[in-house]
Amino acid sequence: MRLIIQANHELTSKWVANYIARKIILAAPTEEKPFVMGLPTGSSPLGTYNELIKLYKKGIMSFRNVVTFNMDEYVGIPKDHPQSYYTFMWENFFSQIDILPENANILNGNAPDIKAECQAYEDKIKAVGGIDLFLGGIGPDGHLAFNEPGSSLASRTRDKELNYDTKVANSRFFGNDINQVPDSSLTVGIATVMDAKEVLIIVNGYNKARALQHAVEEGVNHMWTISALQLHPRGMIVCDEPATYELKVGTYKHFKSIEEKNLNPDSLLNSDLVW
Ligand code: GLP
Repeated sequence: MRLIIQANHELTSKWVANYIARKIILAAPTEEKPFVMGLPTGSSPLGTYNELIKLYKKGIMSFRNVVTFNMDEYVGIPKDHPQSYYTFMWENFFSQIDILPENANILNGNAPDIKAECQAYEDKIKAVGGIDLFLGGIGPDGHLAFNEPGSSLASRTRDKELNYDTKVANSRFFGNDINQVPDSSLTVGIATVMDAKEVLIIVNGYNKARALQHAVEEGVNHMWTISALQLHPRGMIVCDEPATYELKVGTYKHFKSIEEKNLNPDSLLNSDLVW
């Protein structure tokens, strides 16, 4: 696993956006062979989306031949609800880039047949050749997408109840009223994410420090589903300084020193990104 430590969230966002942009440019995607991404919602990727929008507007890159699959969606709120992940993605990202609407896949939390919806999502990912780069964020309890503590590390796309901690964390988007937060979600599974050719997780802030410590220093454990990343051949976490506060000094120094030459976000745009 790679751990890229940036001074703050702004630099984290810039680094991740430039990395993604460079990957897409180097892949030179076409309609027949698109670049396929998994995408998260939440505050963690917002800065990255803003930086990607800037790169698109400067003409540095295009999303024309990029196909996306969002990680998760709430169940039981309308698609156009201000807090649906559909609304989040279109307001904060898709409406400001040149992605083709038919290429932006988001699970339908109101599907009449949940099982069929989840299976169709898995099938569609397979049909486009799998995910090239899965971008993600984590919850303070280390959940990846809505794979709450105790989720099977072999799980695939399915419906999942939200636990109390997640509902508390997400209530900030629902007028701080936990009763307004949906009880359940549709989410890709841990195995769905692990099937991607590469996984990049953004972790920022003090409130994610315990989760980062478990992800990096402890063993693979279903109570911290992000820890499954240790089993991925190309797993990377990009974090800010506050998120590192629970790491051992030695762990921090180790990753800082081995990634020393790769920390400057600006140099990524001309790099060949050899892993
Ligand atoms: C939600 C989402 C996750 C996201 C997490 C963190 O629970 N289901 O996919 O990673 O929140 O959100 P934030 O980035 O706002 O901290």
